[in-house]
Amino acid sequence: MNAMTQDNLRSAFGGESQAHMRYRIWAEKAQKDGFPTVGRLFMATSDAEQVHATLHFKALKDIHGGFPVLSGGEFGLGTTSENLAGGIAGEMHEVTQMYPAYISVAEMQGEKAAVQAMRYAVAAEQVHADCYQVAKDFVDSGKDLEANVIEMCPICGFITLTGEEDTCPICQAKKSVFVAY
Ligand SMILES: [Fe+2]
Ligand SMILES: [Fe+2]
Repeated sequence: MNAMTQDNLRSAFGGESQAHMRYRIWAEKAQKDGFPTVGRLFMATSDAEQVHATLHFKALKDIHGGFPVLSGGEFGLGTTSENLAGGIAGEMHEVTQMYPAYISVAEMQGEKAAVQAMRYAVAAEQVHADCYQVAKDFVDSGKDLEANVIEMCPICGFITLTGEEDTCPICQAKKSVFVAY
């Protein structure tokens, strides 16, 4: 695999790994703040970021050894509204900046496995940002999130709050594989 795509995948792995942990910490805070359903959304999203980190790791499966990894991420343990805003900022950085740049490089370098892993991730991150915005609107009006379901596609990290989809709109997996929170 070309060196630049390798670096980008490792950096994306780092960013997704951080997000996985950060959302678990914010889930615990949401529970404490009296927003248990927001806590469940943070846990579903945390697991979705693990799906992305795993896709990136497996795309790098033939490259062995130690590497320094530089990855950006949001910090701070604020109110649940502030944490949701941090989540939206992080997701939108990935949607508008990080993944489009990384995907362009991977396409230019003909790295198909890397392109596929990052296309799943970027599509799911937009959905995560949208879910966080719905949750933030509830929290900002003093209510816990109200959602029909909180379900996550373990293939690509898509999340639904309605349960309306028969198949995953990102990876076309059957709804029967979705994990409920
Ligand atoms: Fe995400
Ligand atoms: Fe999916």
